[in-house]
Amino acid sequence: MKITTIPSSPYLDQKPGTSGLRKKVTVFQQRNYLENFVQSIFNSLSDFQGSSLVLGGDGRYFNREAIQIIIKIAAANGFGELIIGQGGLLSTPAASHIIRKNKAFGGIILSASHNPGGPDEDFGIKYNISNGGPAPEKFTDALYENSTRIAGYKIAGFADVDLDSIGQQKIDGLIITIIDPVDDYAELMASIFDFDLLKRSIASNHITLCFDAMHAITGPYATRILEDILGAPKGTVINGIPLEDFGGGHPDPNMAHAKELTNLMLGNNAPTFGAASDGDGDRNMIMGANVFVTPSDSLAIMAANARCIPAYASGIAGVARSMPTSQAVDRVAKKLGLPCFETPTGWKYFGNLLDDGQITLCGEESFGSGSNHVREKDGLWAVLFWLNLIAKKRQSVEDIVTDHWQTYGRDIYCRHDYEAVDMDIANAIVDHLREQLPKLAGQSFAEYTVKYADEFSYTDPVDGSVSNNQGIRIGFENGSRIIFRLSGTGTVGATLRIYLEKFEADASKHNQDAQDALAFLIGLAEQFCEVKKRTGRAGPTVIT
Ligand code: G1P
Ligand code: ZN
Repeated sequence: MKITTIPSSPYLDQKPGTSGLRKKVTVFQQRNYLENFVQSIFNSLSDFQGSSLVLGGDGRYFNREAIQIIIKIAAANGFGELIIGQGGLLSTPAASHIIRKNKAFGGIILSASHNPGGPDEDFGIKYNISNGGPAPEKFTDALYENSTRIAGYKIAGFADVDLDSIGQQKIDGLIITIIDPVDDYAELMASIFDFDLLKRSIASNHITLCFDAMHAITGPYATRILEDILGAPKGTVINGIPLEDFGGGHPDPNMAHAKELTNLMLGNNAPTFGAASDGDGDRNMIMGANVFVTPSDSLAIMAANARCIPAYASGIAGVARSMPTSQAVDRVAKKLGLPCFETPTGWKYFGNLLDDGQITLCGEESFGSGSNHVREKDGLWAVLFWLNLIAKKRQSVEDIVTDHWQTYGRDIYCRHDYEAVDMDIANAIVDHLREQLPKLAGQSFAEYTVKYADEFSYTDPVDGSVSNNQGIRIGFENGSRIIFRLSGTGTVGATLRIYLEKFEADASKHNQDAQDALAFLIGLAEQFCEVKKRTGRAGPTVIT
């Protein structure tokens, strides 16, 4: 194998965000841009000679070209085997599983998750470690550091690899294994859930369902599992063909973007269950006939009912949620006597807790939930969890949610996003918020008295590493919270996220609309951050 070192000079904007490096495709297409980043990943690793690396992506525009480049750089750097999803495709949770199952050294996942795709849209790349999870901050910091000093990259000179034929190819000492992207994942799901029960519930029409793959990676996974294996009728999976530009849509599973599904579920004759997943298959949205389950509630309900699922039948070790996720799961943990952890935003912070056996389930308000079966959040896993729950409890989604609120109270919750805000304005908003923090505690706003106002810092209980500046929190004596964060995944300007939460114990008030119930807090958030005033906008870009 002929290996060449190509000289290159650093780009200074290769700092990974909440989930890897995300930029416009045109940025990645700059000369040596992708090559530099990939070489910087390998420069941050040691002792990988001869070992295996998993490669796959969500199939968005530039996926195939990028995989061919990565194959050649990985070969030149000395990996012994590359395990690649057919067509260069792997959902993020499937990639995590394949890394674990094959005891690979790590993996490179190509995805910009829920961001739009296409020649003028977004691309992304991240490195996952041998536990199958996103590399920790320590690694991404070193990687960024390396990217600012890179002087060249190594690349092997062989023809493009056939990504479409399943099986092994050998190029000198390098083994290239092309695998079916779905097989291993489907087998894993069958080992967690009661597939026989699900088959019966679907065959008897106790469960009717619709799954919106949003023209993204879960199309083939959902079609195989829901239709082929579990026997749901053809057409259960809608928008099931993955497209490089997701059909021009925004592959984010929420009621704003999964419109077709939402209209179906909120209309007459809705099926009993509806769900959607995102670009790379790690997010989920759960709906029942005429009901939407917030991701925070979904996590709490999963934790409360985990024993209904075969894999968790003997109980769970503990739970974790990202800081802005509602405290609904904390109430479940308290009642069940389980440890409950509050981590910064981003799945990488759950990795140590899962590896150490301190938690079994975890989730984020951003439509992500998962368990110790992989080290990523997992969209279809959440869908199957809910299906298994409905089948086992023989209850509708709405009844499961209502029962849960009756037992634990409802944490009324929503998130307001202001997207593509001018960076300077966004930074000024954060500075302005910071200035107010020291004097907020003790102040009262109507019946809301501030208990604490600070910036969230996290000390990892397993390795002691500290992550600072993880969002601004204003907590009230009555348990309500307002949280402000700047997104770490956007590619245009800044996105300000405002998270609003209020606890309601009174069951007669559980059916309120979240925006109405949170109106006072929404006004207070504006008073604190002045986003409307400073940007001249009338309201948020998206409410979830
Ligand atoms: C967003 C979500 C976060 C999630 C991440 C990756 O990050 O808020 O919970 O882990 O996408 O899917 P953010 O843009 O807020 O940094
Ligand atoms: Zn995603």
